[in-house]
Amino acid sequence: MSRPAEVVVNLSALRHNFSRIRTLAPDSQIMAIVKADAYGHGIARIAQALEQADAFGVACLEEARELRQANIKQRINLLEGPYAREELSEISDLGLDIVVHDISQLEMLDQTQLNKPVDVWLKIDTGMHRLGFLPELVNEVVRRLQQSKCVKDIRLMTHLACANERENPMAFEQIKCFSQFSEGKNFEVSIANSAGIMAFPDTHVDWVRPGIMLYGVSPFNDSHGPQEGLKPVMTLRSKLITVKQLKAGESVGYGATWRCPEDMPVGVVAAGYGDGYPRHAKSGTPVIVNGERVDLIGRASMDMLTVDLRNQPQAKAGDPVILWGE
Ligand SMILES: Cc1ncc(COP(=O)(O)O)c(C=O)c1O
Repeated sequence: MSRPAEVVVNLSALRHNFSRIRTLAPDSQIMAIVKADAYGHGIARIAQALEQADAFGVACLEEARELRQANIKQRINLLEGPYAREELSEISDLGLDIVVHDISQLEMLDQTQLNKPVDVWLKIDTGMHRLGFLPELVNEVVRRLQQSKCVKDIRLMTHLACANERENPMAFEQIKCFSQFSEGKNFEVSIANSAGIMAFPDTHVDWVRPGIMLYGVSPFNDSHGPQEGLKPVMTLRSKLITVKQLKAGESVGYGATWRCPEDMPVGVVAAGYGDGYPRHAKSGTPVIVNGERVDLIGRASMDMLTVDLRNQPQAKAGDPVILWGE
């Protein structure tokens, strides 16, 4: 038997989550965020399954290239824009859009000649204080972009900082700030990430940019994906590879962080932080063994973790385990 840890990606769950976005924001175009290898789900297969998406958002040219090689025809936006001037000619050849968030990127555009101009998403920092121009600079940046021969259409975007807290007033302040600088410009605009789509309809506007909800995860601190009508796309599953009978007081795993309160069965699962399971998951984190919930105990190691099998005394090596997912 080969090592049983595996990731299963459910593309029909992905399509279900996508249709949930369509229902929530029916009048907006959808830029599916597939950066970081589609949040770890595999960028090409995720994009291929999202035929209905109007665009994709990626982190870098390598990801965009992979999508074009996978025959993805939709608009692809480099969410952090070009990192260097040398990237611009391939960006233009691949027909990509770019975010422009920093003065250095305006300079790159000024110093380049392109066969085909690119579409630019000008990013405005309305309070997240990560990427984007300060609102008071927007008119000047627009003017420079309009003068550039490398630039075709301009769109405006911003990113929400606190929309994952449903009542947090910061989202309203960001929306207000953004509209002050976008109104009257006749450009398409985009504000909403997953939390905006779900909790702040005012943010839907022309384009929405869902990431985490596509993969079935709630962006909110107070709910799980299924409570929001989402289905988990990724399941991490494995098997028990041994069950030990330990004595009261004996410790389990690295650092001996957990001790048996009584004589008890402990299962060892073939999954660990090498598989993406968080090393800092606490004892008590739920794990499903034979369809029943048990507790993680002790510290997850690189390719194994341990579970409390007191409510599964019959469990044995080879029994199925789910770490997360369906
Ligand atoms: C610019 C931008 N838009 C949208 C998203 C998607 O955010 P979320 O995963 O919260 O939906 C991200 C994610 O990092 C992003 O950087």
